Amino acid sequence: MGKPGTSNKNSEQDTSKQIRHTADVVAVIRYKEGEKESPLIYDPFARLFVSPQGEEMLKTALKSWPFFSDYLIVRAKFIDDHLRDLCKKEAVKQIVILGAGNDMRAARLDFLKGRKVFEVDFPDQITNKKQILKNELGTLPENVICVGANLKETSLSNTLSQAGFNREEKSVFILEGLIYYLTPEDVDHLFEELFNISPPGNFFLLDHISPDMSQKSPDSEKSTKLPYPEDSVSYLNNKGFKIIESALLGNLTAIHFGKSYKERWWVIAFTK
Ligand SMILES: C[S@@+](CC[C@H](N)C(=O)[O-])C[C@H]1O[C@@H](n2cnc3c(N)ncnc32)[C@H](O)[C@@H]1O
Repeated sequence: MGKPGTSNKNSEQDTSKQIRHTADVVAVIRYKEGEKESPLIYDPFARLFVSPQGEEMLKTALKSWPFFSDYLIVRAKFIDDHLRDLCKKEAVKQIVILGAGNDMRAARLDFLKGRKVFEVDFPDQITNKKQILKNELGTLPENVICVGANLKETSLSNTLSQAGFNREEKSVFILEGLIYYLTPEDVDHLFEELFNISPPGNFFLLDHISPDMSQKSPDSEKSTKLPYPEDSVSYLNNKGFKIIESALLGNLTAIHFGKSYKERWWVIAFTK
């Protein structure tokens, strides 16, 4: 039996532990893609984060969502391509990856060298990732600033400022595989903060699943967080952002893998 008064805290910790393991699933998918003869994206570090738990969770997910791995690979490609383009054309100085998980863009994308990369995730996830990188590589990518925070509880603006984020510098924010773990109130709050801390000309890369898809999710942390904005493009416009490109992952898999799927899951590039 737990100590009186600790059960809520414990269940919160269990939930954050379960959510952070979703980062391993994505790493397993990137690792498997890298094993192909001509991978669409290549992450040489993904193997470091392959865990039995991640493999098990992926197996379960694929039973309900056979398109899951294909979707996550084209999602990563869309984000990599936009990021490359932005870094080439704009004076991007900072990248902020919210819900970074086992993202290794800072090391795997050459064009990010020399730019600051803030990786925000639960403190436990950050500690675990740092430990793996220290054990396996002996060091962390030098351009990375790790920020341990629960995005549901933190003031993003204060947390990033304390970590050395400069509001005046052009930044790209990546929210990949994140917002369906937040409540609609958290999502509202997050976009308001992102709007307030961003000068015009900041960029954002986001993915978003349809409410009907989320309800059928094999991951209970997704299926219980309803409702999301059904129309994310209007939602973002109403929040003051401008859409650069919005694509359905099922159309991107048709382009890249010759397989088209109807399940609605978007990836969106937008700016302020
Ligand atoms: C599906 S994973 C995606 C990881 C990474 N962005 C990728 O695509 O490889 C979701 C990530 O969001 C993080 N996350 C979810 N809710 C969070 C919260 N409230 N605060 C901080 N991180 C959170 C999880 O810990 C996990 O690392």
